[in-house]
Amino acid sequence: MMADRGALPFSQSCENNKPYILNILCTAFAGRRQVLEIASGTGQHACHFAAAMPWLQWQPTELPDNLPLLQPRCAVYTGDNLLPPLALDVRDNPWPVPIPDAVFSANSLHIMSFESVQRLFAALGRHAADDVVLAIYGPFNYRGEYTSPSNARFDSWLAQQHPDSAIRHFEDVDRLAREAGFHLRADHAMPANNRLLVWVKS
Ligand SMILES: C[S@@+](CC[C@H](N)C(=O)[O-])C[C@H]1O[C@@H](n2cnc3c(N)ncnc32)[C@H](O)[C@@H]1O
Repeated sequence: MMADRGALPFSQSCENNKPYILNILCTAFAGRRQVLEIASGTGQHACHFAAAMPWLQWQPTELPDNLPLLQPRCAVYTGDNLLPPLALDVRDNPWPVPIPDAVFSANSLHIMSFESVQRLFAALGRHAADDVVLAIYGPFNYRGEYTSPSNARFDSWLAQQHPDSAIRHFEDVDRLAREAGFHLRADHAMPANNRLLVWVKS
């Protein structure tokens, strides 16, 4: 998934999807002040989105063991709206970071276990305030079906990498979101058979 291209950890998929995600986030995060990003990976999204949406303070986070992947790119960011990366495992209870008025995560729900997905939404249900906007990018199944043959192949590959990893069902994730007090504002079709789901807590 991640290669060290030159000095900084690099993900080609991040590079490919960031303009399309930004296009949606500019509207979804209009009027927001701070974003908590969960599972920031290489920091490519964090740096790109912080630079392109200067009204936001962007808080990148990662699992403690993966912080060394995230820190180098954040350290060379030249603007003043990217906060130093923090450790966050969504299984933490309580979370060691406050939840601001926007939350973002990309390509993480199919990597972490479903129990971790449940804990993520439970934490948002407990600690996110009303009006928090939550945007989650990645592949999802609908009505029990893959949305493409390539997603079916990707899911087989995920299962070989780790038995807990799997493409999640939109209906399961939306149910968790609703139980946490969020309602779905938008479900955007994205390139490469991905989705960008936007919920608001109310
Ligand atoms: C496929 S990478 C996605 C990284 C980045 N968001 C991107 O789009 O390239 C999945 C990330 O989920 C993180 N992750 C896995 N389990 C997690 C957990 N329990 N809490 C927080 N992050 C987790 C991993 O450390 C990894 O960086």
